[in-house]
Amino acid sequence: MCGIVGVLSNNQAAPILVDSLKRLEYRGYDSAGIATIHEDRLERRRALGKLVNLSDLLVHEPLAGKSGIGHTRWATHGAPTVGNAHPHRAAGVAVVHNGIIENFRELRAFLAENNITYSTDTDTETVALLAQYHLDAGLAPREAAEKTIAMLEGAYALCFLFDGEDDLLIAARKGSPLAIGHGDGENFVGSDAIALAPMTDRITYLDEGDWAIITRTSVEIRDETGQQTNREMKVIEISNASVDKAGHKHFMSKEIAEQPTVLQGALSHYISPNADAVTLPESGIDFAKIERMTMVACGTAYYACMVAKYWFEQVARMPVEIDVASEFRYREPPVTAGTAALFVSQSGETADTLAALRYMKGKADTILSIVNVETSTIARESDLALPILAGAEIGVASTKAFTCQLTTLAILAIEAARARDHLTDAEVSENLSRLRALPGVINLALGIEDKCKTIARQLAEARDILFLGRGAMYPLAHEGALKLKEISYIHAEAYASGELKHGPIALVDENVPIIVMAPRDSLFEKTVSNMQEVMARGGKVLLITDKQGAAEAGDGVWDTIIMPEIDAFLAPILYAVPAQLLAYHTAIAKGTDVDQPRNLAKSVTVE
Ligand code: F6R
Repeated sequence: MCGIVGVLSNNQAAPILVDSLKRLEYRGYDSAGIATIHEDRLERRRALGKLVNLSDLLVHEPLAGKSGIGHTRWATHGAPTVGNAHPHRAAGVAVVHNGIIENFRELRAFLAENNITYSTDTDTETVALLAQYHLDAGLAPREAAEKTIAMLEGAYALCFLFDGEDDLLIAARKGSPLAIGHGDGENFVGSDAIALAPMTDRITYLDEGDWAIITRTSVEIRDETGQQTNREMKVIEISNASVDKAGHKHFMSKEIAEQPTVLQGALSHYISPNADAVTLPESGIDFAKIERMTMVACGTAYYACMVAKYWFEQVARMPVEIDVASEFRYREPPVTAGTAALFVSQSGETADTLAALRYMKGKADTILSIVNVETSTIARESDLALPILAGAEIGVASTKAFTCQLTTLAILAIEAARARDHLTDAEVSENLSRLRALPGVINLALGIEDKCKTIARQLAEARDILFLGRGAMYPLAHEGALKLKEISYIHAEAYASGELKHGPIALVDENVPIIVMAPRDSLFEKTVSNMQEVMARGGKVLLITDKQGAAEAGDGVWDTIIMPEIDAFLAPILYAVPAQLLAYHTAIAKGTDVDQPRNLAKSVTVE
């Protein structure tokens, strides 16, 4: 994946490119680079690591010119090195790319037959070399780009910049999103509209297979067959303000602390003021007509689906199938009439989730999505997209988006139960009122932060950590383990409490902390029995429960985190808080890069 940007401006391009890349850094931060045309000559600068390194380089080696392209990289082909950083260039053309060129080996072979050699480990370099091959054959830049694009297989958002062409960008999209921003006497290209927000709010999204010839005063779009085509220009509401940390040390800590506020917003959006009904858009969902649901997502969003499965099945009595998006379509699941497909994605751009959504088009009765970015591809390609209203989530580890996803899913489960006559109006109202109280309870739960900090100092010493949970707390165990892995780099695994004795209990010794997530619900006694089995083998248990749970089962555990009392239905949302805070403070104790952990990116736009 990666973020790309292109600029045909009347001002210096380099500062605009760098500012746009800053907004795209969530897509990867292995390296960054820009190229501009100055006095008709193509020049580029590239730096390893975060964008700040490129900014520093530009102080010493500035790049003039009013047109240019830029890139922030999440390495797919080739290690993160300056040589592999984009823009890639051949003699007279530079290219930035988001995606994977799947036939790059064949293309290299074709180039080799023509005595053209490559010098990087990337798939993208072949695109620049091919364009140069066509330029050398006498084609004009536009034709050279067209011929090159026609030879590519795989997924790409591309932007070409040509030597000697100060007023031309060629952009192409297949499988990776690309937006064109319309300015006044200026035009722009970006992986998303957010990248272009300071320059323009007038956006055209390219469709699959489209490519565009862009000058300062014109945008000509061609479809896959080469026909000139019109794509709708939309005015998008996006704040162009850079998001700040509001006094927090990290975005992640700010985003954890923000949860009561953003949840309040989501709840007001979906629940009527007197808490007696769920308010969905006019074109809403008729759950009475839906027989079963397929939910698909990745990572944290998948764990939200896992929780939702318990909710929909228990409360709405609706069968739910869930899968991780990268596996879903490859198992070719049969889809029968009456199936609704639901895709959950913070970014709305995750390639695996989008591919799963496209697999279900024409198969499922309706395509629903739950997204944070309302202008995203997943939202645009759904029959109905429900926003989670979490606000910009910058920290790579998802926190507030998870609790907002869960809250939206909980509301849908209640609505489904009402529509299917499994909850009376009075019961709906009771459930919604409890949900409305959730922000206050989460606020109380944030009070455990100091305790988490103390415990985290010891967790930071561990090599492996296990998380256990039962019922709807089992997905939370997964979320706890994922959060810890991704930002503290400690190996963590989650198991259903009852499953441990079927093998993984062999891992237990006094050096492996075991975090048990156990609100005092109907499964509590059973979870406690599993916890005893672990303690009997020297296991060091951290019990996360409420006051009564601690009184009943806290003897002999290593430590306890006491959570506020909560209705069992809503416990998974509340117990996200200790999962997040333990991971955050363990990462701080280990001194890792909390907001931009190694090897990761916020939006994964490659399969
Ligand atoms: C983990 C995390 C990831 C994402 C996953 C899906 O903290 O953030 O696991 O949840 O990559 O991303 P979205 O929700 O954007 O589809």
